[in-house]
Amino acid sequence: MTDTTATQAAPAQGTDHLLQTQDVTVTYDLTHEALHKTSLSFDAGQVTALIGPSGCGKSTFLRCLNLMNREIPRCVVGGQILYHGHDINTPKENLFELRKSIGMVFQQPTPFRKSIRENILFAPKKHGRIHSKDEADELVETSLKQAALWDEVKDKLKQSAHALSGGQQQRLCIARTLAMKPDVVLYDEPCSALDPISTFSIEETIRSIAESGICEIIVTHNMEQATRVSDRTAFFYVGDMVETGTTQQIFSAPRDQRLVDYLTGRFG
Ligand SMILES: Nc1ncnc2c1ncn2[C@@H]1O[C@H](COP(=O)(O)OP(=O)(O)O)[C@@H](O)[C@H]1O
Ligand SMILES: [Mg+2]
Repeated sequence: MTDTTATQAAPAQGTDHLLQTQDVTVTYDLTHEALHKTSLSFDAGQVTALIGPSGCGKSTFLRCLNLMNREIPRCVVGGQILYHGHDINTPKENLFELRKSIGMVFQQPTPFRKSIRENILFAPKKHGRIHSKDEADELVETSLKQAALWDEVKDKLKQSAHALSGGQQQRLCIARTLAMKPDVVLYDEPCSALDPISTFSIEETIRSIAESGICEIIVTHNMEQATRVSDRTAFFYVGDMVETGTTQQIFSAPRDQRLVDYLTGRFG
């Protein structure tokens, strides 16, 4: 068999991107295709913003990336989701393992009803990663520093996470995600429940996390936020990924009329 034949015979797998979707579709209730064929790629150290009007499929797409749609009954995801070059959209993929490396932060801060310290250590302990108090101390400190929360909480690590402000709780959720040492972090409108100062601090945190080499993908309906935090942007409209490019290109030279209309506020 020649090399050429081998290439032709191989399944359409393998990619230089950390994460890539190929013709991904999502169907709810077995009939409603909420996301049409979507192909996007994501790299290490890069922040991608997913924008578009409400109900256009942003969260639906985001949930494909860590296979969260699997938890929705009668929801079917088609296409390939290549993570480190191998397709994870297969029934045999181990969700417990996958979610160690692809973390997710939601709209509402959701700290556990535990101390700040135990919030950070919960998942690493569950996965058998903590072997000594020193290891635990170090993980708590580095994770909280990465989420820019250490200085504010270092003297009250044993206090309840629920006593923190909303913005601090959200940064704790980010720290908790980072404690599993993921290489991808997904955010679904992480600032929409927060005040402007907390929002600014989360945005700075997202930027600094990207600088440490993590790939981040953020759903936002806030255009200014997309321009502040992201390197690349993808615009969704009624289930279609209509246009993608560098954030600079998307906002300064949009091509598709639907994107132009969205950016000029013709629909929300
Ligand atoms: N769990 C679900 N079951 C059925 N339909 C859903 C579900 N989640 C989302 N949808 C539908 O899919 C479409 C896209 O929703 P969504 O991804 O939440 O949009 P966005 O995040 O852009 O606001 C909408 O029509 C929505 O009603
Ligand atoms: Mg959404």
